[in-house]
Amino acid sequence: MKILITGGAGYIASHTNVELLSKNHELILVDNFCNSTPESIKRVEEISGKKVKFYEADLREIDALEKVFEAENDISAVIHFAALKAVGESVEKPLLYYENNISGSLNLYKCMVKYGVKNFVFSSSATVYGDPDQIPVKETAPVRATNPYGHTKAMMEQILLDAAKAHGWNVVILRYFNPVGAHESGRIGEDPEYPNNLLPFVSQVAAGIRDKVTVFGDDWETPDGTGVRDYIHVTDLAKAHVSALEKLVNDKGTFIYNIGTGRGYSVLEMIEAFSKACGHPVPYRIGPRRAGDVATVLADPSKAEKELGWKAQLELEEMVNSAWKWQSLNPKGYKT
Ligand code: NAD
Ligand code: UFG
Repeated sequence: MKILITGGAGYIASHTNVELLSKNHELILVDNFCNSTPESIKRVEEISGKKVKFYEADLREIDALEKVFEAENDISAVIHFAALKAVGESVEKPLLYYENNISGSLNLYKCMVKYGVKNFVFSSSATVYGDPDQIPVKETAPVRATNPYGHTKAMMEQILLDAAKAHGWNVVILRYFNPVGAHESGRIGEDPEYPNNLLPFVSQVAAGIRDKVTVFGDDWETPDGTGVRDYIHVTDLAKAHVSALEKLVNDKGTFIYNIGTGRGYSVLEMIEAFSKACGHPVPYRIGPRRAGDVATVLADPSKAEKELGWKAQLELEEMVNSAWKWQSLNPKGYKT
């Protein structure tokens, strides 16, 4: 299948591209490099031994996007990764988030209508559930995001479902829980300028780039008092996209799936596991709770298993070992 990948140079897209290329799909990537570099694309090609086609373009510029659809006139499906994703920054700069995530998506949806593309996989997030009433969270839980980033994801989902109904699109929405880890080769991985999430931060502390991890509260209602999350290996997550595309080929309609493991780990368990992976204790201190955090978020991934035939395979050890391999082989990320 010829697939257009927006945000195609980013962290999750790079891993997904490797899986898609291994299934012989033809990939057309679009990215403006606001949070990535062309180096990731080069490395995906090296790992896969296959070439991809690449356009540097910003989704907010519809003319640039139309040129891609014009040039690639037989696109069968779109996987839409491109978005800004930092929760804290979205609170400080909500308009930037709405402009980038919503306007960019609207342009993409308009091009799909104009060029008759009808199959779509969307990168959504557990963030749309906010502070869920029931754990594990099912896809039927209410959507009530609590920050501008989460609102953009919830809105993009809604616009997409409305457009799907009007234009007869087939859509799979994947709500990712907490993606971590890196490709087994250590050649591609997460390369944040400043790490907002736990594991990249722990990784940089383990590498001596930062002093210590601050654990955001040890008085949560969890077994050891620290926050519990459903961490999922990025390679498992990447494979969920392959399954989602297969679903679109075989079944027509709109589908929403939680993509997690159903198993949770606390912050202290993650630090301990990482300490084992890197061979020395990762220093940390207990700090205050972070605004907007919740005690526990876990997926109920059973719908994805039943309907997509997808299930996470990789354990915590593989998540932290691969993250450490990527960190140690690329101390400066893709700039190495
Ligand atoms: P990432 O920042 O590594 O990848 C996003 C890519 O999109 C980047 O390469 C960036 O340059 C590009 N991009 C952003 N705005 C663009 C625009 N206007 N035009 C063209 N390109 C643009 O992030 P990621 O972690 O790979 O996330 C991919 C998707 O998954 C995002 O939609 C994100 O919201 C979602 N998601 C991520 C996580 C996570 O923890 N990483 C969790 C849930 C959902
Ligand atoms: N944490 C720390 N110290 C840190 C960073 C995080 O103790 O330096 C804790 C948090 O309090 C939380 C856990 O580690 O208990 C995980 O935090 P992350 O920031 O890695 O992930 P979140 O679950 O808070 O949220 C992230 C994104 C959301 C998204 C969610 C699921 O920020 O937008 O993953 O995809 F919805």
